[in-house]
Amino acid sequence: MKVLVIGGAGYIGSHVVRELLDESYSVTVFDNLSSGLRINLQPEAAFIHGDIMRPEQLAAAMEGHDAIIHLAAFKAAGESMIRPEKYALNNLNGTINILNAATAAGVRRIVFSSSAAVYGEPEYLPIDEKHPTRPENFYGFTKLEIERVMDWYDRLRGLRFAALRYFNAAGYDRRGRVRGLEQNPANLLPVIMEVAAGTREKLLVFGNDYDTPDGTGVRDYIHVSDLARAHTAALRTIDERDESLVVNLGSESGLSVMEIVEAARRITGEPIAAEITDRRPGDPAKLVASAATARELLSWSARESDVDSLVETSWSVYRR
Ligand code: UD1
Repeated sequence: MKVLVIGGAGYIGSHVVRELLDESYSVTVFDNLSSGLRINLQPEAAFIHGDIMRPEQLAAAMEGHDAIIHLAAFKAAGESMIRPEKYALNNLNGTINILNAATAAGVRRIVFSSSAAVYGEPEYLPIDEKHPTRPENFYGFTKLEIERVMDWYDRLRGLRFAALRYFNAAGYDRRGRVRGLEQNPANLLPVIMEVAAGTREKLLVFGNDYDTPDGTGVRDYIHVSDLARAHTAALRTIDERDESLVVNLGSESGLSVMEIVEAARRITGEPIAAEITDRRPGDPAKLVASAATARELLSWSARESDVDSLVETSWSVYRR
C-alpha cells in the first residue's frame, strides 16, 4: 500500500513514517517544512515539498497513493486563541483542500490526527469517545470541525476515515532514527529536556494547587512510537471494516508535572530547576483517556508509555 503522509516531517509525522516503513508500506512525505524538519525525513521515503494551501500541489501528490495520513496543522492551543484566522485557514481550509483532492483522485482512506482538545474541560474520567465535545480553545474546535466534515464526506463521497484523538504525545524513537528537536517548544517534556540540556534556565510549573495528589497538573502521556503504531492499525481497520472510526489514543494512566520532573532528574542526573508559578488559563487539573475503543477496534494499547521510557528516549535525543 502506498501512503501519502501529509505533515510527515513533523514530530509525530516522522515517527508515523518510521512505523509505516518498518511495516513495509511505501511512503511519500508531503510537508511545507514550516515546522517540520529536513532532518526528520527518513531515507526510504519519497519527499514532496508542498503546501496544503495549494490545491494543485495536493492534486499532483495524490497520484498513485492508496491512503492518506494527515498530520499537517498548527497545534499551539494558546496561540489559536490569539490568531484564530491562522488556524481557521490552515487547519480547516487546508484539510478541506486535502479531502477534495483525495476524493477527486479516488483516494478514500484517511487517518487524521485529532486531539483530546476536542473534549474541553472533563466532566468525568477517564474520558471515552462518548464524552461531550466542548473544546475550550480554537485549536480543539478546528480538530472537531474537521471530524464533522469528514463524517459528511463519508456519507456523500464514500470517504473512510479514522480520527485519532491523541492525548499528550511525548518521547522519541527508541532506535534514535528521529532526531529533530521542536523549535520553541511549549509542551512539558521538551521544556524539561531543554532545562536538563542547559539551553533553558528553568521550568515554570503552572500551578501546584490543583486537586491532584501533588497539586500539579495530571495528563495522559502517550509515547509517540505507541501513537505511530496506532496509525498502521487504523489503516488496516478502516479497510477491513469498511467504516469510519473515532478513537482515543492514550496510556490510560496519569502523570503529574512533578512526577515527570522527578523522573527526569533521576534519569539525566541534572538538577532541572523548577519554579512554581500561576496556573495557565484553560488548563484542567487532570486528563486521562479511556482507550477501550482502541483496544477493541484497533487491537492497540500503549506499550512504552511509562515515565522512564518517555524520559529516556527524549533524553537520548536532547543530550546530544
Ligand atoms: C496541550 C493542548 C492540547 C494539545 C497538546 C499538544 C491545551 C489546554 N492543551 O496539552 O490541545 O493537543 O498541548 O500540543 O492547551 N506545564 C507546565 N510548564 C510548562 C509546560 C506545561 O507546568 O512549561 C504543565 C501544564 O500545565 C500541564 C502539563 O504540563 O499540566 C502538560 O502541558 P502541555 O505539554 O502544554 O500539554 P497540554 O496543555 O496538556
